[in-house]
Amino acid sequence: MKDLIDISELTTSEIDQLIETSCDIMQNPAKYSEKCRGKKLATLFFEPSTRTRLSFEAAMYELGGAVLGFSAADSSSAAKGESVSDTVKTVSCYADIIAMRHPKEGAPRAAAMAASVPIINAGDGGHNHPTQTLADLCTIKKEKGRLDALTIGCCGDLKFGRTVHSLVEAMSRYENIRFIMISPEELRLPEFVKSNIAHHASHEIEETEDLQQVLPELDVLYMTRVQKERFFNEADYIRLKDSYILTPAKLTNAKADLAIMHPLPRVNEISVAVDNDPRACYFKQVLNGKFMRMALIMKLLEVE
Ligand code: CP
Repeated sequence: MKDLIDISELTTSEIDQLIETSCDIMQNPAKYSEKCRGKKLATLFFEPSTRTRLSFEAAMYELGGAVLGFSAADSSSAAKGESVSDTVKTVSCYADIIAMRHPKEGAPRAAAMAASVPIINAGDGGHNHPTQTLADLCTIKKEKGRLDALTIGCCGDLKFGRTVHSLVEAMSRYENIRFIMISPEELRLPEFVKSNIAHHASHEIEETEDLQQVLPELDVLYMTRVQKERFFNEADYIRLKDSYILTPAKLTNAKADLAIMHPLPRVNEISVAVDNDPRACYFKQVLNGKFMRMALIMKLLEVE
C-alpha cells in the first residue's frame, strides 16, 4: 500500500494494527522519537485546517523527522493556475511523504497517480477524511473497549460531513453495528456511502430527525458541524445550522457510559457546558489523532 486515500483501502487487521501501534506510541514515546530521522513530510493544505495539519506536523516532529508545506492554496502556485498533479510531482522532489487537503473531491486520488511518494488524504471536499476516522476508531476502542456490538448515532450534517462518510465505511465492517443517522431531511447520509457499505451484512442503518428520542439507545454520539463552506445557498445554511445543539440538560436520558464525539471544529452544535461532562471525548480524539498519524506515517514509509 503506497497511499491512503480512502479508509476502505485499509484491511480490518491493518486498522487494528494501527490502533495498537498508536497506543504503544502514546505509552512509549521515546521508543519512536528517531523513527523518521532524515525523512520529510510535506503538508499541502488547499483548504483551512487546525487539527489535521498541525497533528500531522507534530506527528512527524515527534518521529524525529522534518516538515515543509503550505497552509493555504493562495500561498502556493495553485494561485497561478498550477495543477494538483504538477504540484505533487514537484513536492515529490522535496519530501518523502505528502499529506494533502483539498476542497475538490477526488483531488488526493489524482495526486496519488502523479506523485512518486505516498499521498495521505487529509480531507477532500465533502467526500472522505480517512485519518480522522483512524483517530475516531482509536477513540471508540479506548472508550468502549471494542469496535463491535455498538449503537452509533451520527448527528448533524451527514450529507457534507466527510468524517461521517469515512466513519460509517470503517465501522460497518465490524460485527453488530447499528447506525442511527440523525439529521434534517436535506442533510441525510448520501446514497454513495450507503451503497459502499451494502456488502457488509452485519450492520443496520436507521434514519431520524429526532435526537432526543434515540439518545437513550446510543453507545456513541458522533456530533458534526453543519458545513457552511459546502452550501450553495447561505439562506439554507442559516436555516439548518442550529438544527441540533447538545446541552447538559439534553443528556439527562443518555447512557452513563455514552461516548460523546465530534471531529471538531465545533460551532454551536455542542454547548461548551458539555465539555465538563466525563462522557465528552472530543479533545481525546484530537490527541489520539496525533498518535494515529504517527503510526500511519511509519506504516506508509515502511519504518520498522
Ligand atoms: N477534524 C478536522 O479535520 O479538523 P481541522 O479541519 O481543524 O483539520
